[in-house]
Amino acid sequence: MNNQALKKHVEQIKTITLTQLFQDSPNRYKELSVTTDQVYFDFSRQLVTPETIKLLIQLANEQKLKEKIANMFAGEKINKTENRSVLHVALRSGQNKEVQAVLARIEAFSKKDLIGATGKKLKNIVAIGIGGSYLGPDYLATALRPFSKRGVTLRFVANVDGTDFVEKTADLDPQETLVIVISKTFTTAETMQNANTAKAWMIKGLNNHPEAVKKHFIAVSTAREEVQSFGIDPENMFGFWDWVGGRFSATSAVGAVPLSLYLGFDNFQKILDGANWLDEHFRNEPFEKNIPVLSALIDIWNINFLGLKTRALLPYSQGLSKLPAHTQQVEMESNGKLVDSDGKPVDFQTGEVVLGEAGTNGQHSFYQLLHQGTQIIPADFIGFIKPQYELKNVPGNEISHHEELMTNFLAQPDALAFGHQDKDLAKNFPGNRPSSSLLLKELTPFTAGLLLAWTEHRAAAKGFVWNINSFDQFGVQLGKVLGKDHRRRMIEFNKTGKINTDGLTPATAKLLTDFLS
Ligand code: F6P
Repeated sequence: MNNQALKKHVEQIKTITLTQLFQDSPNRYKELSVTTDQVYFDFSRQLVTPETIKLLIQLANEQKLKEKIANMFAGEKINKTENRSVLHVALRSGQNKEVQAVLARIEAFSKKDLIGATGKKLKNIVAIGIGGSYLGPDYLATALRPFSKRGVTLRFVANVDGTDFVEKTADLDPQETLVIVISKTFTTAETMQNANTAKAWMIKGLNNHPEAVKKHFIAVSTAREEVQSFGIDPENMFGFWDWVGGRFSATSAVGAVPLSLYLGFDNFQKILDGANWLDEHFRNEPFEKNIPVLSALIDIWNINFLGLKTRALLPYSQGLSKLPAHTQQVEMESNGKLVDSDGKPVDFQTGEVVLGEAGTNGQHSFYQLLHQGTQIIPADFIGFIKPQYELKNVPGNEISHHEELMTNFLAQPDALAFGHQDKDLAKNFPGNRPSSSLLLKELTPFTAGLLLAWTEHRAAAKGFVWNINSFDQFGVQLGKVLGKDHRRRMIEFNKTGKINTDGLTPATAKLLTDFLS
């Protein structure tokens, strides 16, 4: 980014280390943190000073961040390439009549006794969807397993690799299974392939019962006609709107339907409340105290000024084990862009690579590179004061499981920041590796919703400052088009036995020939 003040400032920062910064100002965490009644955000271990934050906020102001956030909330068509509003915040404001009507239908549906075609209770839910129609709900379901209705299972089938469907359904009785097909467009190849397979599985499992699809399939989509032509009664369809982007759709019917069935509607409502809490924080808090805005500005600082282009997301919580995968889509599908909002090429890095794993598992995997690798990767630590399961006073364990987990949450940021000097270079830890820490009270539906919205707004705020459109995803199209071409070749091969490699590069022709012969 071409900001002269920050470019000058970064040269100064590069001469200082975190060790020095903490020596000069041991209480810098007081200035470089935000406390709210829900979450504590400490960014004092980032390579920043109060001056850095001031300059970043100036940059945000120059880029009209406040106005852009307001425009999003006001429903302006900020997704210009698709001429759409971006209003996922309306899904949890409690103020939108259309949203509330769909939620009321979902609530009623989730409270009904669901009985299958052969009279058995439907207690297994198989949710078929991919990308935004899967990752957010899967993150929430995983986070909130302790809140689930006992005796109800929820499994997601996303991958078109048949292993996903077969393994997820192998031990399920179709008579006790409800399939939810979740697809905004209802044309996504992987989802439709899995949906057809599920339909055949159900019809066979129910001995061609005439109500196999009617009683065992429901849909979440914006495409009524496609849902109908698949054979699902529109009565059994829950809708949403084109102003909800796929990766921002977890709080629409996309998440509401499977999660209300799995967790109960009241818990889903609490997810909405938590997301709404962060929406209001994002909309109203001054940037100095605004957690998603500060998170975004620090990312921009790391990416565009310090040149640190990968970020690690390290939740010290098994429940958050799917948050990195969801964040990958939100960040990388939103902000992996080559052009700005006016369609002109950008001349700076947009987007970042996100990787992550639940702590402490990551420590025994890739943290070696975080501590001693030649590449510096800023990290976000997330921890909870109270665990979902404490497991204390176990003979042989000196402290509870949660305390053991938190020893690591406390230790790792300091190890990264301050390192450890050793004459033996193999054992030397250089330190000066930046991180932030987010501490919340407990992983509940409310805080899971809050973290979801934090992820969404952090990515959006970056896009606003970079002046790119974070809400389209044309980059996924080319692969789909080429895939369709191969699909045609495979249909032809199945009919004629002939391999058609016309127009393919020799490399791809070889792969196709090896695959088919
Ligand atoms: O291919 C990318 C994508 O369009 C995502 O943006 C979206 O979340 C996913 O596919 C699934 O789309 P749909 O809900 O229409 O099946």
